[in-house]
Amino acid sequence: MSSEPTSPASLLLGVCDYPEHVSPALWADFARQQRELGLSFVRLAEFAWSRMEPRAGEYDWAWLDEAIRVAADAGLKVVLCTPTAAPPAWLVQAHPDVLPVGRDGRVKTFGSRRHYDPASPVFREHSRRITRALAERYGQHPAVIGWQTDNEFGWGDTAQTYSPAAQDAFRMWLEARYGTLDALNEAWGNVFWSMEYSDWAQIPLPGQAVAACSPSHTLDFMRFTSGLMASFQAEQVDILRECSPGRFVTHNFMGFFSAYDHYELSEGLDFASWDSYPTGTLTAIDEWQVLAPEVAVTYARTGHPDITAFNHDLYRGLTRRGHWIMEQQCGQIDWAPSNPLPATGAVELWTAQAWAHGADGVAYFRWQAATMAQELLHSGLLRHDGTPDRGYTEVQGIDPAAYPLAPVANRVALLHDYESLWAYNAQPHASGMNYWAQTFAYYRALRALGVDVDIVHPDSDLGGYGVIVAPALTVMTPQRAGHLTEAATHAKVVFGPRTALRGRSGRAQDGGGFGPLSALLGARPLNFDSLPNGLEQAVMLADRTYAARLWAESYDPQGADTLATYAGGPLDGQAAVIRHGNVTVIGAHSVTLISSILTELLEEAGIEVTPLPEGIRLSRRGDLTLVQNWTAHAVTWQEQELAPVSSRVLTPAMVSR
Ligand code: GAL
Repeated sequence: MSSEPTSPASLLLGVCDYPEHVSPALWADFARQQRELGLSFVRLAEFAWSRMEPRAGEYDWAWLDEAIRVAADAGLKVVLCTPTAAPPAWLVQAHPDVLPVGRDGRVKTFGSRRHYDPASPVFREHSRRITRALAERYGQHPAVIGWQTDNEFGWGDTAQTYSPAAQDAFRMWLEARYGTLDALNEAWGNVFWSMEYSDWAQIPLPGQAVAACSPSHTLDFMRFTSGLMASFQAEQVDILRECSPGRFVTHNFMGFFSAYDHYELSEGLDFASWDSYPTGTLTAIDEWQVLAPEVAVTYARTGHPDITAFNHDLYRGLTRRGHWIMEQQCGQIDWAPSNPLPATGAVELWTAQAWAHGADGVAYFRWQAATMAQELLHSGLLRHDGTPDRGYTEVQGIDPAAYPLAPVANRVALLHDYESLWAYNAQPHASGMNYWAQTFAYYRALRALGVDVDIVHPDSDLGGYGVIVAPALTVMTPQRAGHLTEAATHAKVVFGPRTALRGRSGRAQDGGGFGPLSALLGARPLNFDSLPNGLEQAVMLADRTYAARLWAESYDPQGADTLATYAGGPLDGQAAVIRHGNVTVIGAHSVTLISSILTELLEEAGIEVTPLPEGIRLSRRGDLTLVQNWTAHAVTWQEQELAPVSSRVLTPAMVSR
């Protein structure tokens, strides 16, 4: 435990606190305990609109002045939140049209949070007003180091809005994008099922029709709603920049959330943050079927190392300027189907992993467990009775100085693109096969080989990478193809199935096949096979047989070499993996096959491969290597005794020994 202020040269630890939830008589003691615990900042004022402005236009800052003063006096820095995720009841009563409308057309009511429509001009005005009032009051406060906009945009299925205001705005957005209805009808392929429009006013929001709307319609709606969320946030960011110069502005995103383009929402931020709840995020695997059920049980108390690491790497890559964990699980949560107590040691394990994957700040959620309302069963560092809970004891043992801040410099990139995700998932075609399942299979294979990965946008700078994997890049434009062709001059590039299936509109490529990527791949796709659970397709690579699950796609190699071939079934004898110069395409979904091919390519590129035992993971930051044991038993690895659920930071000398 460190009682001195944390040096900015090492990981900043903090906590999410809600002083308005407890008696002011406790505040000074809480702040003192927070400092004694080695924390250097508190995140305040999230959701506190009804206390900041109890009635329209009547502000009450006395309590927040005092809460910030108490924190500052104790030596804590403050991260403030705009409170817009929780519009007060008076606002909703006065302007019911600020409420969001769900996919089913029903207006969502007041009574929890995120009950606002980002398309509502009235709500946007109030959002700007409360943001300005807050930022003018505290923007220059010496203790305030940064801002969080709102909270978890899109939580509770609120990223897509189906209000009349959204309907109007969507039509205007389409008109600006396409100019004419002919162009829109052509781009969406509306001749199919007589879906052609002769008036902009005929265009509905997708998701409410008898069956699924055209994937092109859906893709544009996702682009539109993503832009809407981004512009909602940008209004707050502009005000914060104006009134609070020199402070960072970030947002706390959610793990694997996909309902907007996180690159777009991160554009105006200093860095992205995310909220890490490893035992809860583990449940996402149910939908993907990527981990066997017994594996999910093995990791029930820690979460799966690669699932949490994937999100660190994704959020670090949004701005490529580091990232924070704005809410770090520190005990049991309350929102997954089951909420086991984390293993002893899990809080330190998660904190160390976050650091190694590039986090510069970690805030535990939350200080004291809420004694009321929706999250009464959720833990905090303190129990309901104010005594230290399990997480507190663990944080006491964490020395932030052990985690110096240094750049993360990786040689392997995984390309991630939300437009491809939306197009992929609009027509999954195989139960259990979706964008994340396909993408995560590659990530998992790389991590099990001891490789560190940057997750970056396909159109971003790809210089410096030796291996680039693009597991699910299904939307391909000529510009993107040109960029990837250039990247393939210096890197080994690996594509997965459904690559370049669609152009920007979501239609198949003009002329079919790989479209603008055809020359780079030197081949053409033939067939794809959707495999129900239990049905496998054999693949032969050299003299080894692999089993493809969920998806098998075949190619006519044309100018490319065939590396692996399907054996048996309708694809018998057809190419499953092809290689054309620096570029490889893997059509079969098999983690072991992917792993074999990646191993060779990594070695060709001179990138060290260290196959790791189950639950052991390596992560590098600066010149330090973090080795972690995520299993519940001791493991001996390379002569190191790794206790259950534990971490060790290795210096370069220790690694080369
Ligand atoms: C997050 C949210 C927090 C709290 C937490 C509970 O989604 O940002 O306010 O609800 O989950 O785990």
